[in-house]
Amino acid sequence: MKAVTYRSFGAAADVLQLVDLPDPVAGPGEVLVRVRATGINPSDVKLRGGARPGAVMQFPTVVPHSDGAGVIEAVGAGVDPARIGERVWIWNGQWQRAFGTGAEYVALPSEQAVFLPDTTGFAEGACFGIPAMTAWYALYRDGPIDGQSVLVTGGAGTVGRYACQMAALGGARVITTVSSDAKAAHSGASEWVNYRTQNVTEAVMDMTAGAGVDRIVEVDFAANQRASLALIRPGGTIASYASASRMQPELDFYGFMFKDIRLHMLIVYQLSGAVRRAGEAQLTQWLQKNALSHAVVPAGGLSDVAAGHEMVEAGQKLGTVVLEV
Ligand SMILES: NC(=O)c1ccc[n+]([C@@H]2O[C@H](COP(=O)([O-])OP(=O)(O)OC[C@H]3O[C@@H](n4cnc5c(N)ncnc54)[C@H](OP(=O)(O)O)[C@@H]3O)[C@@H](O)[C@H]2O)c1
Repeated sequence: MKAVTYRSFGAAADVLQLVDLPDPVAGPGEVLVRVRATGINPSDVKLRGGARPGAVMQFPTVVPHSDGAGVIEAVGAGVDPARIGERVWIWNGQWQRAFGTGAEYVALPSEQAVFLPDTTGFAEGACFGIPAMTAWYALYRDGPIDGQSVLVTGGAGTVGRYACQMAALGGARVITTVSSDAKAAHSGASEWVNYRTQNVTEAVMDMTAGAGVDRIVEVDFAANQRASLALIRPGGTIASYASASRMQPELDFYGFMFKDIRLHMLIVYQLSGAVRRAGEAQLTQWLQKNALSHAVVPAGGLSDVAAGHEMVEAGQKLGTVVLEV
């Protein structure tokens, strides 16, 4: 099969190579998926660049990318053969595994290939493992959000955009922060604040008549800690999935303590089985109703992988960078 690989950390154009590898085989409990689309997330790019703290190559050869979608072509022992021919989306394709979705085939545990309804294309399916599931988990880990107010910081990001939609679908009032009118339109949220030109705390307090919000879905904990603390209502939850501006921020412990705030620093790769199945079931329901809009940035095929990684690094793309396989 054709596969993108890297054997050492480095710049995308230096280390990513399109090579021929033997076709993988589905082992016991696994399925073999013919990949049709592979999604590139910031985490794939950071892994390849060796940007994780204490990074060492975990495997001699890595096929990058955790997200993808395709069709099950074969199953291993113990997996229902009725799954052959099923359209699926993939999660954790390259989480603690050498071979991810940046290839024509991937073999992986059956539960990591989730039914993809006919309502949804393969490119869109390559956006679910990380962006969609992170948004769902950040919003719904603690149960329904009907009637609550949710501030989604960075609503034009891949996670943020899904979070805006999923919060509205759950009956919440959604306010988001963005850095331009174009990004506001991309977020789809009707209530938004430009976090570069406006004072977010004042603006959101005005919008909520001084009440603040019940929940925050946070893209940069360090950068927004002060505003979040001011805006979150007593007893509220801040679910934060990144803190890129500062990975070890100083925490205003007593500020959060006296407001009885739950801080949820989440990682989508580590969902428990039960939580993951609940998220998958909810996502499937929304997909079958065509309730979600997906932001795909088509970026060519496997041979265009280096440019795709560079687009993610540049950070200005609007949506998930997806390669057709
Ligand atoms: N913990 C997890 O499980 C998990 C899951 C998914 C992603 N992540 C991480 O989350 C980060 C974002 O991922 P993504 O795929 O959503 O990236 P993305 O598509 O590039 O979106 C990031 C968004 O955040 C906005 N932003 C940046 N700083 C902001 C700030 N201080 N306030 C408000 N908005 C801000 C950006 O807007 P502007 O460019 O306009 O500023 C951009 O729209 C990455 O570091 C990724 O690795 C973590």
